[in-house]
Amino acid sequence: ADSLRIALAGLGTVGAGVIRVLTENGDLIARRAGRPIEIVAVNARDRSKDRGVDLSGYDWEDDMTAFADRDDVDVVVELVGGSDGPALALARKALAGGKGLVTANKAMIAHHGMELAEAAEQAGVPLRYEAAVAGGIPAVKGLGEGAAANRIERIYGILNGTCNYILSQMEGSGADFGDVLKDAQELGYAEADPTFDVEGVDAAHKLSILASLAFGTRIDFDAVDCSGISAIRAADIAQADQLGFVIRLIGLADCTYDEMGCHLFQRVAPCLVAKDHALAGPKGPTNAVVIEGDHVGQLLLQGAGAGMGPTASAVVADLIDIARGFNPPPLGLPATMLQPSTPADPAGRHNR
Ligand code: NAP
Ligand code: HSE
Repeated sequence: ADSLRIALAGLGTVGAGVIRVLTENGDLIARRAGRPIEIVAVNARDRSKDRGVDLSGYDWEDDMTAFADRDDVDVVVELVGGSDGPALALARKALAGGKGLVTANKAMIAHHGMELAEAAEQAGVPLRYEAAVAGGIPAVKGLGEGAAANRIERIYGILNGTCNYILSQMEGSGADFGDVLKDAQELGYAEADPTFDVEGVDAAHKLSILASLAFGTRIDFDAVDCSGISAIRAADIAQADQLGFVIRLIGLADCTYDEMGCHLFQRVAPCLVAKDHALAGPKGPTNAVVIEGDHVGQLLLQGAGAGMGPTASAVVADLIDIARGFNPPPLGLPATMLQPSTPADPAGRHNR
């Protein structure tokens, strides 16, 4: 069968990981996809950098937007990052040019996902972004496909691997926040701007995407009430421990319906979690996503939420779906059917 031909923009932690997965598991992936997945062209900033992978078989494009003009590219894979700038320019051009798009970029989907989903649907091409939410965990598939038969009542969980790594490393050891953050950066977990991680913004990006999938609402990142962990000190963690808790950065979204539509509550905040609760267990860069549906009950999806292998695994899973011809609406419903929401009044919500 004809191969699925891809162009890779971004050869950092995730991009190099995708090359590794496709190289090491190429035969298995071809059998599962029904055809080989072939990298045709690549791009990054620095052509001379050693990335620990062999790039000799691929065309190097100096301008990544040229991927969209190439007849020998079926799908553009955007692993550059940033909500706007080159990533968004590439995404827009790829979809307008009839290419499929796979991305791990939650910032771009949180800010421009509505526009990109509409563009993909108009062009009839796939837009997939499993790696953008919770790394290797199939959270997007879990909501958009696995739990699709349900009215979703609530979603919550640990959505940032860097914060979970920092908090769990500080537990017991009393390690310094800044030192542990530096480790997380070196391990490839953190965003290019790590304030997005520690101030809760990255988790808020992911929560706004999950909320759209869960409740059939338009993505509303600006309405997420967001605070991070930058003010948490070893003494706070020790005190929580004495009281029987751990501190975790939790994202939670639920939707209250009335005649006005969906009142959407979206919050990211550090929370005290009882030590015997499922969300207290995950250590390191682990994420956990809880989905509560009216028929399925409670689902708990847990696994590595950041890092090379897990994130690349999710990117390649999207490519396998595309190779198989799977092309559902990117946000679970056609973009034009997604409803606006109003932010829930937190006071009213707690009084329910
Ligand atoms: P990264 O290691 O910083 O890699 C970014 C890549 O993009 C690098 O290869 C860089 O080129 C290239 N790049 C940056 N700006 C560019 C520009 N203006 N023009 C051309 N190339 C440019 O980042 P990453 O960790 O792989 O993350 C990539 C994306 O995946 C982001 O959207 C991130 O949020 C998302 N993500 C990451 C993880 C994770 O665990 N790391 C998990 C889930 C999702 P050079 O290498 O030449 O500098
Ligand atoms: N910086 C992100 C995190 C990467 O730590 O969770 C995965 O999205």
